[in-house]
Amino acid sequence: MKPKVDCSASQKEQVAEMFDSISGQYDLLNHVLSLGVDRWWRRSMVQRVRQRHPQSVLDVATGTGDSAIALKKSGAARIVGVDISAQMLKVAQAKPNAAGIEFVKADGELLPFEDCCFEAVTIAFGLRNCEQRLQGLQEMRRVLKQNGTLVVLELSMPANRILRSIYKLYFLRIVPLLGRLISRSSYAYRYLPYSVDEFPPRKAFVDEVRRAGFAEVKAAALSGGLATIYEARKK
Ligand SMILES: C[S@@+](CC[C@H](N)C(=O)[O-])C[C@H]1O[C@@H](n2cnc3c(N)ncnc32)[C@H](O)[C@@H]1O
Repeated sequence: MKPKVDCSASQKEQVAEMFDSISGQYDLLNHVLSLGVDRWWRRSMVQRVRQRHPQSVLDVATGTGDSAIALKKSGAARIVGVDISAQMLKVAQAKPNAAGIEFVKADGELLPFEDCCFEAVTIAFGLRNCEQRLQGLQEMRRVLKQNGTLVVLELSMPANRILRSIYKLYFLRIVPLLGRLISRSSYAYRYLPYSVDEFPPRKAFVDEVRRAGFAEVKAAALSGGLATIYEARKK
């Protein structure tokens, strides 16, 4: 069930406020709740980007910047991270290995960049928070250069029935409890399982990426399908 929201603020403002409120504990929670696997998933994303040797990479919904920092290994000369939460960006900017990365407070659905200016665009665990997902994908396509690569990393529902039951139990019961204990925000960690559940299944999302105008769309399951990495090309 969708957690109750404050109807006086737009969904986007609420998402930004929610991430602002948990920014200080976000990294710890991320590593605890994923049992540290999130680092490995980000490495897989970086490997995909690295194979394309981009000179410029945009990381959308960069949050506390871990993906943008990991992307330094891609060898790109320019790395930009955008996010709607000012506090998440503040945490990112304070990290010692974030030097050289440009952080910009901006909406992924309305990017403040001209057409065709990045060779790769990444988004890790961010697309499920977007209000207008298709618009977000179209924006990412707009700022990509011809033949540029999009890499999306998202949590996903495992195909195996037993694994899926464990996953649901974990997300619906344990994650909200741990989230509340560590971050004191019960809303944020009730919102997480909801946003994961709302995200389309693998095949439906591949079709959505194609609808946004991308070609060569591929999906690869990570850790038995707990997460999925999608790669697509701008033609
Ligand atoms: C789950 S965090 C992921 C952060 C980071 N990519 C990572 O791998 O840890 C989701 C992030 O998406 C950001 N976000 C949500 N909607 C957004 C939007 N429309 N535009 C830009 N950032 C957005 C949130 O503020 C939050 O920092």
